[in-house]
Amino acid sequence: MSKMKKDFSQYFQAPDLREAKKRGKEEVQVLQFESLPDEMKNIGVGHKYLIQTFGCQMNVHDSETMAGIFEMMGYTPTIDERDADIILLNTCAIRENAEDKVFGELGRLKHLKLEKPNLILGVCGCMSQEESVVNRILKSYQNVDLVFGTHNIHRLPHLVHNALMSKEMVIEVWSKEGDVVENMPKVRADGLRAWVNIMYGCDKFCTYCIVPYTRGKERSRRPEDVLNEIRELARKGYQEVTLLGQNVNAYGKDLEDLNYLFGDLMDDVRKIGIPRIRFTTSHPRDFDDHLVEVLGKGGNLVEHIHLPVQSGSSEVLKLMARKYDRERYLDLVRKIKETVPNVVLTTDIIVGFPGETDEQFEDTISLVKEVEFDSAFTFIYSPREGTPAAKMQDDIPMEVKKARLQRLNETLNEIGRRKNEELRGHVVEVLVEGESKKNADVLSGRTRTNKLVNFAGPKSLIGKMVMVRIEDPKTWSLTGVLLEDPKQQKAPVA
Ligand code: 5AD
Ligand code: SF4
Repeated sequence: MSKMKKDFSQYFQAPDLREAKKRGKEEVQVLQFESLPDEMKNIGVGHKYLIQTFGCQMNVHDSETMAGIFEMMGYTPTIDERDADIILLNTCAIRENAEDKVFGELGRLKHLKLEKPNLILGVCGCMSQEESVVNRILKSYQNVDLVFGTHNIHRLPHLVHNALMSKEMVIEVWSKEGDVVENMPKVRADGLRAWVNIMYGCDKFCTYCIVPYTRGKERSRRPEDVLNEIRELARKGYQEVTLLGQNVNAYGKDLEDLNYLFGDLMDDVRKIGIPRIRFTTSHPRDFDDHLVEVLGKGGNLVEHIHLPVQSGSSEVLKLMARKYDRERYLDLVRKIKETVPNVVLTTDIIVGFPGETDEQFEDTISLVKEVEFDSAFTFIYSPREGTPAAKMQDDIPMEVKKARLQRLNETLNEIGRRKNEELRGHVVEVLVEGESKKNADVLSGRTRTNKLVNFAGPKSLIGKMVMVRIEDPKTWSLTGVLLEDPKQQKAPVA
């Protein structure tokens, strides 16, 4: 029987953006990840898994959770797709080109499925929350065996079990907001830096963005669960933790029995013995004075803040429903700069939002110059079906959008280069991550402010904090010399 003949809607819940948009009043349940039923404990023994991750750090971390679940089931990892018995594509829906890449991969993997009919091919992540994507997979990618959503990760053992047992495509995408599932196993990519979710979902509904639909409503983890996870990472010797959420500044707002917000969490994390704490991503609207004050205390709270602005024009910000204007953003930046010494600010910017005029784009350029971001992620607006902006007239020609992006990037590069130049001769603290990608004789690592530093040194330094004097600043990285004298190691940190 062909996969298409079955009406899957009777059996599985298909994704639905209208449903996803609803925000219910139901209380969020904190569930515990259950130990595996006996019949699922050995499913993977002698078999290999491969997860290909697209998109943001939230997805990277979700893949670590899925890897943890696979390994509980007895699977072992592989990086060779011909060797894999199960391949998952953990997808991103943020822009059209992210989706195109995934469909390209699915097309490419068709041949593998023909060679290895027992291979399980799965699609998960943000794209699987979209009705149109699931329909397209059903129609044109029958080589896919399994589709599951961002709220269904904890159900992976059951889903894999079903996919192995069934000849039909297994689809499970819950559009409801989702609960918080604790105690999920994780395979972290390295023993040095770790991601820790502090909250899930987003309630901001910026008019261009698909995330509130694909990731559900804002749900914070309980502070004690977050803090215990970080304490455990400290015990294991991790050097850096990045607190993760789509909008970390909304942390705690939904915990009605507590009066405990993101600033309070950061103040408690500050007391844990992890040398570096980062967080991403912030929303300027929820960035309160208490948080600024706590970040000013420094210590393990690094002086780097990623603060997406999206546009420098108050009119465009209004159409984007960002809920702040240019002045308010600049005010926040001023407060942060006054309170957090040597702070480095980075941002996200969209060009070519529907109706963006030349003048409004110039407002973005002038804001970038005023704030002096060290770097930024810049994007051409991409309409996302189901979002309010997709109904606005996308009236700016592609050549204009491309020219704006180029001009913006040139402006940012010029500023970035100038800011890096200021570090010439300074000594910076570097967490050594490994060999440089381009040259195995060179080590590379990051400063507290997340700048990439390359320097010559022995491999034994990988995983350590060292002091490096910057001798050759470039636009996107810094080249320096290792300070080997411990006395020099005490030099001021930039
Ligand atoms: N088009 C272009 N860029 C987008 N982003 C989010 N949605 C879109 C879209 N529809 C950008 C924003 C966000 C970053 C993660 O991706 O700048 O901060
Ligand atoms: Fe991450 Fe957003 Fe992309 Fe989903 S759509 S993977 S949340 S960036």
